[in-house]
Amino acid sequence: MELSALGIRVARTPGLSTLPQVASQVLKLVDNPNASPRQIGALIERDAGLSSKLLKSANSAYYGAPGKVKTVSQAIAIMGLSAVRSVVVGQAYQQMTSVRGASKRFDRLGFWQHGLATATAGRILAKLKGYADPEVVYLAGLLHDAGRMVMDRFLPNEMDQIVQQSLEQAIPLIEAERTVLGYTHVEVGLLLADHWSLPQAVAEGIGKHHERVNYADCPVGCLVQVANVLAHQAGFAIGAPVLYELDPLVEETLGIATAQLDGIKQIVVQEVMRTQEVLKI
Ligand SMILES: [Fe+2]
Ligand SMILES: [Fe+2]
Repeated sequence: MELSALGIRVARTPGLSTLPQVASQVLKLVDNPNASPRQIGALIERDAGLSSKLLKSANSAYYGAPGKVKTVSQAIAIMGLSAVRSVVVGQAYQQMTSVRGASKRFDRLGFWQHGLATATAGRILAKLKGYADPEVVYLAGLLHDAGRMVMDRFLPNEMDQIVQQSLEQAIPLIEAERTVLGYTHVEVGLLLADHWSLPQAVAEGIGKHHERVNYADCPVGCLVQVANVLAHQAGFAIGAPVLYELDPLVEETLGIATAQLDGIKQIVVQEVMRTQEVLKI
């Protein structure tokens, strides 16, 4: 299927072409300097499932007050609006990925863990670099390969072929995508970013994570790219067990020591397990 035809399929699928209403409203409000935390809290409270996930996240060890957060507004105060956005969009994304795909060979749990691992590594890298909004990098990391969720659903035969080719030839999935489809999960992911009205910086992470970008010109793309490699190296890989190495040029512009990157991988393993527990995956 051509990319344009796939775009039309996505646009015509209600549960996929738009984020759930609460998530899209939260996205808009977080970027609006005039919006108040109370408005956002009131929105979230309308959705019981979402409220309880938010409270669980706020009560996780990460925020340092386990068991003490009782209300949505306390959760917003302790986590900050940007982290609340990550939970809200993350929950919506999780629900979308849990819709049964059609491909037989695509590992959906592995895919979800890979997104979480990339998100977690991205947030740590962003903090180390002093990037203004580490949660943007978390969100971009979570969604960086979202195009594959679409392929799994609408292009099951091609997806099976892609996974098989990746395994047989020991090549990364993205190379098999190019051969089988003529386009990759990056272009498909950008289609989604557009439909979902994701912030520009998040779209940058999705669009540039396989390109040789430098930190100064394209910080989110660079951070997500490195986070993606660390996620693969930490064992949260998808596709063939190909050796994933950092591009030396990208690594140089990032300027984080190898020992520190190794430390991040260890944290990622623990955090993915913990987040899976919180989100009950
Ligand atoms: Fe990717
Ligand atoms: Fe990836």
